[in-house]
Amino acid sequence: MAIRNVCKIDIDNEILRKKSKIVKNFDEKLAELLDDMKETMIKNYGMGIAAVQVGVLKRVIVIECNNMFLELINPEIIKEEGEDIDTEGCLSVGNVKGYVKRPMKVTVKAQDRLGYDFTITGEKYLARVLCHEIDHLNGVLFVDKMIKKCGENE
Ligand code: CO
Repeated sequence: MAIRNVCKIDIDNEILRKKSKIVKNFDEKLAELLDDMKETMIKNYGMGIAAVQVGVLKRVIVIECNNMFLELINPEIIKEEGEDIDTEGCLSVGNVKGYVKRPMKVTVKAQDRLGYDFTITGEKYLARVLCHEIDHLNGVLFVDKMIKKCGENE
């Protein structure tokens, strides 16, 4: 495993804005990418990370939830319910935190590192992180959707 460099909006905006590609090969290279993403996320105190944030344009995300690590390959939101406004930050965006409206609950279908299909339903925090990371795969950052920055006047 290795810690990879995290792309930042001020210098790597071009790659962060690209659409990531569907993963077709569930091989050793994918496993290594997942392990490195996990290590990189932990090292940077992140709660989620998308492959594009380490400069790899593949539809791969890793999320930490309740001390468990979730790996989602080719994730796709298949159901959304409700609304929830809360704060977000991002390893690629520096110190800015802000309020973003997300669904209260989402169901996502994805594949695991071996290529097996699964679905996961998340509420509140997990729904938020899933949406945030899936946005990364489409070149979208939370600052694009931010209602207001934390600490800004009402
Ligand atoms: Co992010």
